[in-house]
Amino acid sequence: MRTRPTVAVTASVVSAAFLAVVPAGAARPATVCGDVAERPWCRTSLPPDRRAALVLAAMTLDEKADLMGGDEFLGQITSGWDGNARAGTLNGIARLGIPGLRLSGGDAGVRQGQATALPAPIALGASFDTGAARRHGALVGDETRRKGSEVTLGPALDLVRNPRFGRSFEQYGEDPRLISGIGTAWIRAAQAEGVMASAKHYTAYNQEAERYTIDAVVGGRALREIYLPPFEAAVRDAGVATVMCAYNKVNGAWACENETLLSRILRDDWGFRGLVVSDWMTQLSGTAPPARAGMDLEMPVGARFNPWFLKAEIAAGRLDRTTVDARVRAILRTMFAFGVFDRPPYPNAPATIDVPAHLGTARELAEEGITLMKNDGVLPLRDPGPGRASSIAVIGSAADAYVSGGGSSQVLARSPVTPLQGIRERAGRSGVQVRYDNGTDHARAAAAARDADVAVVVAADARTEFADQWCLTLSCGDALRGDQDGLISAVAKANPRTVVVLENGGPVLTPWADQVEGIVEAWYPGEQGGHAIARVLFGDTDPGGRSPVTFPVAEKDAPAAGGAAQYPGENGKVHYSEGVLVGYRHYDARGISPRFAFGHGLSYTTFSYGDLAVRRDRVEITVTNTGDRYGTAVPQLYLGLPGTPEAPQPPKQLKGFDKVKLNPGESRRVVMPLNERALSYWDERAGAWRVAPGCVSVMVGASSRDIAATSRLCP
Ligand code: BGC
Repeated sequence: MRTRPTVAVTASVVSAAFLAVVPAGAARPATVCGDVAERPWCRTSLPPDRRAALVLAAMTLDEKADLMGGDEFLGQITSGWDGNARAGTLNGIARLGIPGLRLSGGDAGVRQGQATALPAPIALGASFDTGAARRHGALVGDETRRKGSEVTLGPALDLVRNPRFGRSFEQYGEDPRLISGIGTAWIRAAQAEGVMASAKHYTAYNQEAERYTIDAVVGGRALREIYLPPFEAAVRDAGVATVMCAYNKVNGAWACENETLLSRILRDDWGFRGLVVSDWMTQLSGTAPPARAGMDLEMPVGARFNPWFLKAEIAAGRLDRTTVDARVRAILRTMFAFGVFDRPPYPNAPATIDVPAHLGTARELAEEGITLMKNDGVLPLRDPGPGRASSIAVIGSAADAYVSGGGSSQVLARSPVTPLQGIRERAGRSGVQVRYDNGTDHARAAAAARDADVAVVVAADARTEFADQWCLTLSCGDALRGDQDGLISAVAKANPRTVVVLENGGPVLTPWADQVEGIVEAWYPGEQGGHAIARVLFGDTDPGGRSPVTFPVAEKDAPAAGGAAQYPGENGKVHYSEGVLVGYRHYDARGISPRFAFGHGLSYTTFSYGDLAVRRDRVEITVTNTGDRYGTAVPQLYLGLPGTPEAPQPPKQLKGFDKVKLNPGESRRVVMPLNERALSYWDERAGAWRVAPGCVSVMVGASSRDIAATSRLCP
């Protein structure tokens, strides 16, 4: 009989216990775990491996098998109706003092009852800011712990391969270096709060279409250079506790049964010591294959990993006990390493969350991600005055709604602020008139726009887990909002001073881009988005974001859009035949002009880039604010590596970025470190990283298509 250990706790015990999480192993009485005389694994001075071995030796086969599968079938399903449900629970084993684990979604805030709804991961990617990633991760870690969970099921480190990906909003963008930088900062910060993060979905999980059956056929070089680096960084640089294997197959084997991925690469090459958890309701071909391949824990229930099946497989000789021990050891070792045995379970105490502070963080993070795509001088709106707006027509049903992505990352927001509310409140403080029209009648909306100094049209898409977009137009994005593209055109004709505010989970087509004076991409900005949008529109803050994805002019221009075999797949297989040419690499290599380039985003001030200095271990550049306002620059370092006949290289690849806030006239020397890996490519034949002979071209600029300084790095 397994029950979760019942330990009465108070808030002070929790904080004291939390202090014991890091560093692990400090000598203290193991009161929670038990008496060290009876339970030697409770001795906190022993290393996690030793403790795991000791407890493993005391476990029966039934207990081991029990620990390999989750115990709450309805958690994930009911979280839609019962906001307090978690994604899953793993009961512990009371006889041995093995505690349980409680797992909650955390990509954009904690998915477990009401919680602070943060900007979606794509907005965090747009921040190009590891500091913002730390704040996002720390907030999620804090709320996860205070809601009594040990594991946060994020971050998602998948890449936006085709812009129709339904879960693009849960990703940090289309570039592995950006995803790695944001992801590692997030994981470290979340784990520093005493919870375990879960790098997901390992790997080549890049579409919702047929996600439970599709086989992603990916070449070794694309895997190593594009899809794996964010996971590698999560393991090596951030010490992520858990890795979640994906629903799909990779090169013929289910990701959760893929020995190459789970054992050879993850554990042997990268030295992962944590636990591998299945995605929820993952397809498996049986019990022995995932166990042998290296999946440790099946969630949300042990459909295949349960005592009946595991014992039957052992009896039939298809599975040996040492394999079961390896799986259980990984679970136990991770729990020891993260202090789970040595503290009382976190109580579910949401009342202890500092809600005002967290809402403030949510707003600031939204501002760091809001991306000014176009500005012909209409922005910032500022306060009324000669030549300035004294009336605004806010148009579109999305203006009056709280827009976020759907599925397992959706958070029950505390008090969402819509764009209309945010703009009304901000405009009211300056005596600017606001009139709202929901845009259902284009002629009426145009009339409202004509009567105002400035028109602000808010348009949104509606991305969600479980389905990809049918196409990239706004109406495909959210058919329920009608013809948003037509609405924007009608309004722009009536009033040239039109600003479009987009709330999107990924790239959309913007056929009206030349007709409007301003375009602000707010992504899914979280529950304080309305205030953040208003502050950017009025110039109370500089738009901090840069696009983490390329916006195509036409859908056929997008990467992986070359036919069904490439996306969404044919006969059960999707061929990643573009190899390493994902995102802007595709546009650059094929000479396609994007609508908005990767890394693009304007500021209300201007910057110059000078004194580029290039060394093998770093690139330095001086960024100067040449305008008359305080503002944010995002210097980006791209390298053009020398190609070889077997491994031709894209014209440029992001290898570093920084975010600097400067006063008018102020300069900052920005240092972007380089290492051997940044100069290397994956040599498929040798199965190793190699530096190709030849010079590297070095480019630093404000976006992938706005290079301000170039140099060369030669051996
Ligand atoms: C998603 C995961 C998520 C899990 C638990 C799955 O459907 O793919 O990202 O962590 O549900 O909510």
